[in-house]
Amino acid sequence: MDKFVITGGVPLKGTVTISGSKNAALPILFGAILLDTPFTFLNVPRLQDIKTTLKLLALLGVDVTLNNDIVHSKPGNLVPEAPYDLVRTMRASILCLGPLLTRLGHARVSLPGGCAIGARPVDQHLKGLQKMGATFDLQGGDIIGHAPKLHGARISFDMTTVGGTENLLMAAVLADGRTILENAAREPEVVDLANFLVSCGAKIHGQGTSVITIDGVQALKGKNYSIMPDRIEAGTFLAAAGITHGELLIKDCPFRALETVIAKLRAMGMEILETPEGVRAACRDERLHGIDVQTQPYPGFPTDMQAQIMTLMCLASTTSMVEERIFENRFMHVQELARMGAQIKVSGHSAIIRGVEELYGAQVMASDLRASASLVLAGLAAKGTTHVRRIYHLDRGYEHLEQKLSALGASVERVEQ
Ligand code: EPZ
Repeated sequence: MDKFVITGGVPLKGTVTISGSKNAALPILFGAILLDTPFTFLNVPRLQDIKTTLKLLALLGVDVTLNNDIVHSKPGNLVPEAPYDLVRTMRASILCLGPLLTRLGHARVSLPGGCAIGARPVDQHLKGLQKMGATFDLQGGDIIGHAPKLHGARISFDMTTVGGTENLLMAAVLADGRTILENAAREPEVVDLANFLVSCGAKIHGQGTSVITIDGVQALKGKNYSIMPDRIEAGTFLAAAGITHGELLIKDCPFRALETVIAKLRAMGMEILETPEGVRAACRDERLHGIDVQTQPYPGFPTDMQAQIMTLMCLASTTSMVEERIFENRFMHVQELARMGAQIKVSGHSAIIRGVEELYGAQVMASDLRASASLVLAGLAAKGTTHVRRIYHLDRGYEHLEQKLSALGASVERVEQ
């Protein structure tokens, strides 16, 4: 297992280019199952989760090849079985269920377990598919689904779910008739998936709002599609500029998709400006000011930026509060930040962060993808050296992070631990 060894205190300076979005690429690549023609996916991020997705697609019978940031797919004889060994390494594998059922009429997909940040049930996915005519059995931990032909339905989610919206969206594009998704997720990655499907001939309206209408078509075909940039990677680099009091030009930064995050970082004292070359981010104040953040479904503050902004709060001149409203256990970075001198008190879904003057380098342990990013940010600002262990969590969602940070002047080294 690798670790990062980071020596803090260097203000980051220079230009960084954001990679394709992990959370848009995953559902869009599973959309290859729906296609009747060969297809080219562009701006695909080079991440562990992408490799896992391509392995699963190959297992399912889709002929996929990866060449740098391009994926070519060709339809093949589908084998609708997603095994536990793959699904347990990436919960998003459940996104193959809707496409397989609508394409083939049957599927066996291992029920994804929980993960570090929560139970992560998929009841909304199954409930929506049942309304479209699917039946499910649970055998030996596998979901076995049957659907002679999915039909349109009006589906109202009990809570906003990104994956649930994406699974039902992909099931509905080839179903018979009209499907209406209410209380649908509005995330930019859901919109990117819908735009990809529309580019292949799907009939979708309302993406980006909480009511999405889909009229099923006979077949989907297209040539290529370029994945949107990763707003969470971009947000993480904005936070890196803030915590190191640096000055960055961030290219391919999805400014609109980050409005809530940018508003909060500006309130903390950062200067963030959209320019024709990209987004310029700087932090010239002596210290950042504390603020309050509550995570919400889009367009609210994204839960995937909660750990990163909390790290900035650790060094703010006043007290901050964070309320995690999406997942039940997304504060595992807190204990690790405390090892570096942070003053954070957690009570249930809330955390109070009293700003301190300095963080100190320490040995810390990554527990999940975004917690790892928050520990790297803390290391960049801390006095001394920080060892961030188990950075395989980081490799799932950040492309070449140490190279990108080193190019901005950071002292970050990947070491076999
Ligand atoms: C997606 O996960 C993202 N992953 C997550 O990013 C992100 O944190 C999350 O959306 C919220 O924005 C991908 O896109 C691959 P949800 P997803 O369904 O779809 C509950 C990262 O760091 N729920 O919107 O699994 C669920 O427990 C990852 O990149 C049900 O109860 O999230 C959670 O509390 C982490 N039943 C809430 O809804 C269901 O059937 C939101 O989950 C589905 C969800």
